[in-house]
Amino acid sequence: MSTRNYNSFLDTALSEGLNINKGIERRCVDGVYGMYATKKIPKLEQLVRFPLNKLLATNEGLDYPESFTKEIRYFYTCTKNISESKRPWFYFDNFYPLKDIKKSHVYFAKDSELQGIRQASPILFQYIKIAQTRINKHIEEIKSFDKNIDQDVLLTVIINSQQRSWDDVGFIPVLDLFNHSEVDGLARRVDDENAYLVAGQDLEPGDQIFINYGQKDMYFHAIDYGYFDPNSLHNIDLGLRTNFTAQTTAQKQTFRRLNSIMNLVSKENPDKSIDYNIAIGEVFLGETAPNYLAMLLFYETCFRSDQDRNNKTLHGKLIRNRAEGFITSMKSFNKIYDVISSDIPSKFIYLRKMLEKEHEILNANIAWAKQQSAGRLLR
Ligand SMILES: C[S@@+](CC[C@H](N)C(=O)[O-])C[C@H]1O[C@@H](n2cnc3c(N)ncnc32)[C@H](O)[C@@H]1O
Repeated sequence: MSTRNYNSFLDTALSEGLNINKGIERRCVDGVYGMYATKKIPKLEQLVRFPLNKLLATNEGLDYPESFTKEIRYFYTCTKNISESKRPWFYFDNFYPLKDIKKSHVYFAKDSELQGIRQASPILFQYIKIAQTRINKHIEEIKSFDKNIDQDVLLTVIINSQQRSWDDVGFIPVLDLFNHSEVDGLARRVDDENAYLVAGQDLEPGDQIFINYGQKDMYFHAIDYGYFDPNSLHNIDLGLRTNFTAQTTAQKQTFRRLNSIMNLVSKENPDKSIDYNIAIGEVFLGETAPNYLAMLLFYETCFRSDQDRNNKTLHGKLIRNRAEGFITSMKSFNKIYDVISSDIPSKFIYLRKMLEKEHEILNANIAWAKQQSAGRLLR
């Protein structure tokens, strides 16, 4: 959204009760818009406030099908309002208009455009397909309720919501304009009347003010939010990339033990083997080392027999090999350096950069595993 559009949006939001700290402003730096401090702001000072009763209320008077979640009702109401030119603060189709979204959002990618990505990472390709299917399902659901709905506006709403709305609350003006960083610079507060953002740390003039969108796999940022930021901290979510099949009693016991600590989803197969998936959002490889639950996963799954488990002198070696083998096998799914640049259209170059980063992160984690000595791995 251009600065001119932003200013007119701001005027509307102010007249609806938005309160914005005079020491912050929206700026474009290296092609990316974000919110910046223009003066010193102490930790805990309020940055933005907006009254909850001015948020878009989903039109509950309508006879929605039972399958319509709050999110779907929100998409519908928002689309209807925009189509009917009722344009209060949530008139955001100027923000990321469809013509801009189409330029780089994976939803619009044809399989032929994704061939390079498919070759470089079948897992990323699979998640792009899942994201496309999810959006199509939303569209179908809404169209079956109202066949006259404007599909372009609906798509703009759905994709903007993915990138900017607050859980099930929807868009909150200006509060939705902060970029992501795991080094969170903000605290969110909601009381009965208002949603607030307050500074999470002391800010200096010129500092970009970040908010944390949550610990998520780097693929999620690229697919759902449509960007890759090389300066951010990145995570690889093992829940997204791995599943296990337990066949022997020992393997089943291992996963039962793990299940008491982390969230596993299991399904018994007709041959009595059990498929286990790790819940998304728990078990991560960070930039250089796995988190505690990932280490535990390596630990619990490294013994091939009870004898191994009882042989303490073997432990360090087994755990190290397990961690290294596990991460190395993940790396085998990343073939970005086998793909020539022209096989990835320039609009998806951020996906290429992300996969290169993933490669680097996996190497760093392998180096970490190699370095671990017996007792240190699980500390
Ligand atoms: C909630 S909006 C943030 C404000 C947005 N930059 C704007 O001008 O409206 C989320 C979008 O901002 C972009 N974004 C968020 N964090 C980013 C980051 N660390 N680096 C680059 N772009 C980012 C992505 O395009 C994402 O979909």
